[in-house]
Amino acid sequence: MQSSATPPSTSRRIVIFVIFIVLIYPGLIKTNTVYFHPIDLLMYDAQNQYISYLNTAARSKSLADAVHIYQEKYHDNPPPGFDIWFDFARNRSVWVTDEFDQIHDDLLPFRAIPPGDIRLHTWEDVSNPWNEISGITIRKGEAKVQENVLPTHRWMLEGVAQMINQFSQYLPDMDLAFNLNDESRVALHYDDIQSYKMQALRSSFLGSSSWATDRGGWRDIPPEPTTDTVYENWSFRNTFQEWGAAGCPPSSPARRSLTPLFKSQMCLDCAADHSLGQFLSNWSTAADPCHQPDLANLHGFYLSPAAFKATHLLRPVFSQSKVHGYNDVLYPSAWNYIDKAVYAPVNSSGVPGTDSFIANFPDPLFSEKQDILYWRGATSEGVSDGHGAWRGMVRQRMVHMADNLTNSQHDRITLLLPDHKHSDRYTYTTVSGTSLPKLNLNSSAHFVDGIARCGGIDCLAQEQEFASAHPVDFQAHWSYKYLMDLDGAGFSGRFLPFLQSRSLPFKAALFREWYDSRLIPWLHFVPQDIRLHGLWSTLAYFAGVEGIDEDGRKWKWKGHEREAALIADGGREWAGRVLTKADMEVYMFRLLLEWGRITDDNRDRLGFVLT
Ligand SMILES: *[C@@H]1O[C@H](CO)[C@@H](O)[C@H](O)[C@H]1NC(C)=O
Ligand SMILES: *[C@@H]1O[C@H](CO)[C@@H](O)[C@H](O)[C@H]1NC(C)=O
Ligand SMILES: *[C@@H]1O[C@H](CO)[C@@H](O)[C@H](O)[C@H]1NC(C)=O
Ligand SMILES: *[C@@H]1O[C@H](CO)[C@@H](O)[C@H](O)[C@H]1NC(C)=O
Ligand SMILES: *[C@@H]1O[C@H](CO)[C@@H](O)[C@H](O)[C@H]1NC(C)=O
Ligand SMILES: *[C@@H]1O[C@H](CO)[C@@H](O)[C@H](O)[C@H]1NC(C)=O
Repeated sequence: MQSSATPPSTSRRIVIFVIFIVLIYPGLIKTNTVYFHPIDLLMYDAQNQYISYLNTAARSKSLADAVHIYQEKYHDNPPPGFDIWFDFARNRSVWVTDEFDQIHDDLLPFRAIPPGDIRLHTWEDVSNPWNEISGITIRKGEAKVQENVLPTHRWMLEGVAQMINQFSQYLPDMDLAFNLNDESRVALHYDDIQSYKMQALRSSFLGSSSWATDRGGWRDIPPEPTTDTVYENWSFRNTFQEWGAAGCPPSSPARRSLTPLFKSQMCLDCAADHSLGQFLSNWSTAADPCHQPDLANLHGFYLSPAAFKATHLLRPVFSQSKVHGYNDVLYPSAWNYIDKAVYAPVNSSGVPGTDSFIANFPDPLFSEKQDILYWRGATSEGVSDGHGAWRGMVRQRMVHMADNLTNSQHDRITLLLPDHKHSDRYTYTTVSGTSLPKLNLNSSAHFVDGIARCGGIDCLAQEQEFASAHPVDFQAHWSYKYLMDLDGAGFSGRFLPFLQSRSLPFKAALFREWYDSRLIPWLHFVPQDIRLHGLWSTLAYFAGVEGIDEDGRKWKWKGHEREAALIADGGREWAGRVLTKADMEVYMFRLLLEWGRITDDNRDRLGFVLT
């Protein structure tokens, strides 16, 4: 078991922070010198992905189109109520009406579970408070939060109920079980999920009946909490082998290495599959742990989650975000729906020192922002209770990389910079870690409010490593050109506001949300590998470099501010188009129609057909 391992020796501790260098990948990049910048190519490629997304996501001009597209895609009829859903989507002027594959993928395996069992499991999960799963009940067209919800999490379910009540009048009776934790919950073994999916694919929903008037079958919450559970508490332990890799094929690197191979190292070869040179080229596969056993030690969720209660059984748990390989059902988070983190720049014209003065946090044009990569946050990605887990966490590595690189050998950084001799080429060049500010590659990344989620020597160790900063107003972010976005214990609730702003978000994440397929990396945001090894090269591409490095080499490269502004504006415009509250409602509405069908004893006969 990981958690009982002895703390790594000092030299190994340092190694985990080393940003490994010269990346020479098979395929496109065979040497240290390239004739094009990979980011140029990735941005070009993103355009093509965008066009193909446009051609699939918003094709329907009428209900009939939407029904045909549904039937063509899934070989099923849409669920009853689909016509009302389509009308609702139209009324809300949402743009995406045809691409909801996430819903289909999340629910597909449940077809292998009898409807009565899904309902029973929902009831069992919400009846035992220890599970940290709570319910919403929909009866007679109204969604209500169940009584026994933990008070600390009530706001969250109230927010979800508020969203559902925009369309609940059109829903059949049902209960829903929501994960109160940030961490994912349901991790089926590879063989199980394969067999469920095979079974599911043999079934089809070709019925045409509507909901029965009395669906029944949903039991009331018992007055006394129950104590049976199928969940196991694996908080504070390394969860990678048992849970993270459970869904991977037995032949995959993640499953083959019984003890993680790369205890204190990053495996850069593991990144090759989803990279072009140093840069991330495939956002989906970048989050797949199966070819990346080193992830076991590179993210708080795998290293030592704060609240991790999981099962290998297919339980009906709705989660706000999940990591690749987990089988939770995704839904749009209340965090964004009820504006727990909101994009609301303040441009006041008051006079400082007078009553009319409100702190001023405008969102200026990209070119007027400061040329800085900015991050603020807490040490909440995972718990570090004496075994040094913090050293592998993304947030800690990020702050370390921004503040604490030295001029020693193991802190050298590889940047892709214009070739000194040939103006048409770029060369991967290593520079000393202390060269960054000298080259104008500036960042400001700090933990605020001291060190949280620590125990034993890890509290002091982190206090010594990191300078703590004062909390800032969230709206202060918009002063900076580049905003780092990182997972916490789960998804980052700030990402939507970051997208909405005129700043450019850089995102490194394993957690994925309901809208993942709507966003195109390098068009709407700048993706980063969880290892962060291409971070400074990416910043150099956009911000340019100017100055003399520690080795006395002089650099001057204009950078690509225009491209940075294009992506920043692209993400802002796109978020306004497809990530609105109306989009959240429409997603949730469609999800719950599907959920209503899959939990119905008559599910094989239910469906919507055009008359
Ligand atoms: C859509 O709008 C029309 C016209 O206002 C209204 O009659 C209809 O009930 C709305 N449908 C839904 C599902 O909201
Ligand atoms: C789960 O396990 C952790 C670590 O052993 C422990 O601190 C925590 O109290 C447990 N939580 C529950 C609810 O049992
Ligand atoms: C990412 O990789 C997957 C699996 O190889 C592939 O299906 C998908 O098309 C790739 N996506 C992009 C954008 O290249
Ligand atoms: C702030 O508001 C003033 C007056 O409305 C406007 O002229 C100015 O451009 C705004 N500044 C920013 C940064 O949005
Ligand atoms: C970056 O940092 C250097 C050194 O601290 C400073 O001279 C320079 O002005 C900074 N550049 C920006 C754009 O803030
Ligand atoms: C890391 O950098 C911060 C900010 O400059 C500094 O306060 C802290 O002492 C440094 N940590 C180490 C271990 O040098």
